[in-house]
Amino acid sequence: MSKKVLIIGAGGVGNVVVHKCAQVPEVFSEIILASRTLAKCDAIAANAARPVRTDQVDANDASQVTALIEKYRPDVVINVALPYQDLPIMDACLETGTDYLDTANYEPPEEATFEYKWQWAYHDRFKDEGIMALLGSGFDPGVTNVFCAYAQKHYYDEIHTVDIVDCNAGEHGRAFATNFNPEINIREVTQKGRYWENGQWVDVDPLSVRKDIDYPQIGRRASYLMYHEELESLVRHIKGLKRIRFWMTFSEQYLTHLRVLENVGMTRIDEVEFEGRKIVPLKFLKALLPDPGSLGPTYTGKTCIGVMFDGLKDGRRKQMMIYNSCDHAKCYQEVGAQAVPYTTGVPAMIGAKMMLEGTWRGAGVFNIEEFDPDPFMADLNQYGLPWEIVEGKSIEL
Ligand SMILES: NC(=O)c1ccc[n+]([C@@H]2O[C@H](COP(=O)([O-])OP(=O)(O)OC[C@H]3O[C@@H](n4cnc5c(N)ncnc54)[C@H](OP(=O)(O)O)[C@@H]3O)[C@@H](O)[C@H]2O)c1
Repeated sequence: MSKKVLIIGAGGVGNVVVHKCAQVPEVFSEIILASRTLAKCDAIAANAARPVRTDQVDANDASQVTALIEKYRPDVVINVALPYQDLPIMDACLETGTDYLDTANYEPPEEATFEYKWQWAYHDRFKDEGIMALLGSGFDPGVTNVFCAYAQKHYYDEIHTVDIVDCNAGEHGRAFATNFNPEINIREVTQKGRYWENGQWVDVDPLSVRKDIDYPQIGRRASYLMYHEELESLVRHIKGLKRIRFWMTFSEQYLTHLRVLENVGMTRIDEVEFEGRKIVPLKFLKALLPDPGSLGPTYTGKTCIGVMFDGLKDGRRKQMMIYNSCDHAKCYQEVGAQAVPYTTGVPAMIGAKMMLEGTWRGAGVFNIEEFDPDPFMADLNQYGLPWEIVEGKSIEL
């Protein structure tokens, strides 16, 4: 099999995707990396284990992406630029008849809202074209969705509650930094919390619901209820579901800084007048904050991201958790990136591998839990994200 992959976005995640694709030459025989800044592509390519061709593209412009795809004729496009670029890149894939994969759903720049409706609306056009789009092939969304599909396939007749739990117990030594793109991260964290129960969405104030969760290999950590995009697709695909929630850990230091930044208006996403020109405060803040890619050399400690289930098997109550734990320093040693881009980039590579090998095929737009989880779960173990199952573990009420 000789397949070409075009990766768009030369950030923290793009760096990991390039390294991981380079480790699997039998599937990814040619790698092309393109981004807004060519120098960033060249820097990543210079450290890759195999030759990587690089190019420049503004992926906000579908015609530029179309020209790029026509130039290289890839078998799949992996979009690890920002969520704002999802739709123009999907338009270019439609124009050229090319398969598409991403790790985050589309967001309109002027509104911090996370919904699949814009991308699901491409389903019929992708189907008519006979091409495939795989949405949300990162860790969360991504691996967490696959954990749900795996639990549903092998362990449950009905899954009643799902709690996705995301803990970063690492230390990077900076006063305030985000683990992936600061603008996207802060938009996500400052929005209202939201969960789904008995067929209804319930909104709560941002970070207003806290629970101390006991994470395997880490211990108890303060965790906050947030809305996360995989909830929207999982309520469609998990049988018997009564409630689904998402929890993430934050340190007191992070929350204190965030509160101050919010209070003084630095997280605003609307334009304000500054010295005769318009600026978006959050974009300005992003320019000041550490590049998440720069955190790697000093990062220590572990992540633990998983899913806790409660439901029925053969008429009996069953509780369990599936999780992965990653060590920041080990990730840095392997690919020059801390665990957050690592845990995103590895599943992006595996999702593309599933598509190129023909293991996961379909015409249209798909969420990752719609496919057989078994081959993906096997590849997680093989390519750096081994997972564990803990029987009897559930979130304490
Ligand atoms: N599912 C998950 O688990 C998960 C977890 C973390 C992150 N993510 C997603 O992963 C994606 C990448 O995150 P990251 O932390 O790697 O971000 P990042 O470091 O900021 O990298 C984003 C890259 O996209 C490029 N880019 C931005 N606008 C572009 C445009 N118009 N045309 C071409 N390239 C453009 C940037 O190029 P320049 O540097 O040249 O501006 C940058 O190199 C984001 O969508 C994020 O939401 C998903």
